[in-house]
Parts: sequence; C-alpha cells; structure tokens
Amino acid sequence: MNAMNTENQITESASASNADRPYFQVKDIHAYYGESYIVQGVSLEIPHGQILALLGRNGAGKTSALRTFARTEDPQLTQGEIWLDGQPLHKMKSHEAALAGLQLVPEDRRIIQGLTVEENLSLAQVAPGHGWAIEQVYERFPRLAERRNQEGVTLSGGEQQMLAIGRALVRDVKLLLLDEPYEGLAPVIVQEIEKILREIKELGITTIIVEQNAVAALRLADRAVILDTGEVAFTGSAQEVLDNEELRHEYLAI
Ligand SMILES: Nc1ncnc2c1ncn2[C@@H]1O[C@H](COP(=O)(O)OP(=O)(O)OP(=O)(O)O)[C@@H](O)[C@H]1O
Ligand SMILES: [Mg+2]
Repeated sequence: MNAMNTENQITESASASNADRPYFQVKDIHAYYGESYIVQGVSLEIPHGQILALLGRNGAGKTSALRTFARTEDPQLTQGEIWLDGQPLHKMKSHEAALAGLQLVPEDRRIIQGLTVEENLSLAQVAPGHGWAIEQVYERFPRLAERRNQEGVTLSGGEQQMLAIGRALVRDVKLLLLDEPYEGLAPVIVQEIEKILREIKELGITTIIVEQNAVAALRLADRAVILDTGEVAFTGSAQEVLDNEELRHEYLAI
C-alpha cells in the first residue's frame, strides 16, 4: 500500500514538473565541433506561441546554437538539457527531434535541385508527423501556388525562403527555427516574409529567429537573447534591446 502511494506520487510529480516547464527550455547546454568549444553554457526559454530573436555578432554562435537545438551531429552536445513541449530533445538524434516537432530552416534553405515547388513540399510530407496540407501552404503563399510546377531552385530568393518555410509547415511543427530568413533579400521582400511570419505567429507557432537584420527581427519578436562568444550576454524583451543603445552598439553593431 505504502509502496503504491510512493509510486503514484513519483508519477504525479514527474508530470507536474513537465506541466511547469516552459514550452521550449534550454538548460546550460555545451557543444563542440571536434575540439572547438563553441556553445558555452547557453540557457533560454520560450513560452508557447512567442517569438524569440536570437542575436549577436558574426561568429557569436547563433547558427551553432540552432543546430544544437535541432540535434544535428555537429556541433556535438556534451552537456545540458533541451526540452520541447515536455519532450527531452537532448536525448534525441536530429530525425527524432524533427519528429518531436522541431523544424530548422537553415540559412541556405536547402531547396532540392531537380524537384518542383510541389515536389519539394510533397517530399517533406513523406515522413510521419503531418502539419498543413499543401493546399493550405498555397493559400498562405500565393506566389508558391502560381509556381507549383516550377523547379524550386529557380525561384527568387524570397520565394525560396517561402518554400523553405512552407516545407516546415507541412511537417508537425511545434518550434520553428529560422536562420537568417531575410538574408540577401530586398527590403520589400523582407516585408513580405515578415508579414507571413506575423501570420504564422497568429497561428500560435513558437519561433526562434536568428537575423543579422536585428531591427527587423526585434520588430517581430516578443523576447530577445543576445549571444557573445557562445554565451548568453543578454536576455530580455525585444523592446528593451530596441531601447538600449549601449547594448545594441556593443553586441549588435547597430
Ligand atoms: N563546422 C565547424 N567547425 C568548427 N568551427 C565551426 C564550425 N562551424 C562554425 N564554427 C565556429 O563556431 C563559431 C560560431 O559560429 P556560428 O556559425 O555559430 O556563428 P553565427 O553567430 O551563426 O555567425 P554568423 O552571424 O556569421 O552566421 C565561429 O567561431 C565559427 O568559426
Ligand atoms: Mg550563422
């Protein structure tokens, strides 16, 4: 009887701790490329549905942090915990993290050569864990609908970014990681992508945006984390960063 009670208590306290956990939580992670120590004790959290801007100068470790969250082989996570909606990503490989709902849209967008827009989207739906139907992506991105039979790699930079985001949305996405989504895009296209990201936010998709264009990222974000040589130099609201000239000057060069 006593043993049973203890067991019940353990089960309850375990589920309570997951219920208390932020939707996405990174606890003191450390990661290496071979011998190079790059992610040096990063902690951050995001409530469900919020957007976090992850900022910092070139080489600060932003891409490395995203890759560590996504559990890619490089950099290698050696210590710390990563939780998404109660799931321990730190115990997973990258394909398992993707199934758990983490979708990384890398800087180079990885549009697959030789495949049309539609084939790129269909391929993303081959694995289990479905999100939007392809028709829903077309409703949200009319430019992709018009170009559904065009080879993906021949799209403009902005359209390729839309396709890369669309491909994440046809998966069961719980956390969207965007690495420099505005890179190389004209201001008018940046505004178009920004509008789409606002719509995605309205749908309640939790997002991390890494951007050199810090002002554009901060306009969109609720919270901000600034990295400096693989460590967290600042955590606060996006507005605080916009208002703090010293901080912007020191870590963002804006
Ligand atoms: N594959 C790798 N092997 C070894 N070192 C690497 C590797 N990739 C990145 N690094 C190093 O890790 C550090 C952080 O790089 P990272 O790409 O994460 O920075 P970043 O903040 O994304 O920079 P940027 O704004 O230029 O994209 C840099 O010093 C970089 O040289
Ligand atoms: Mg980078």
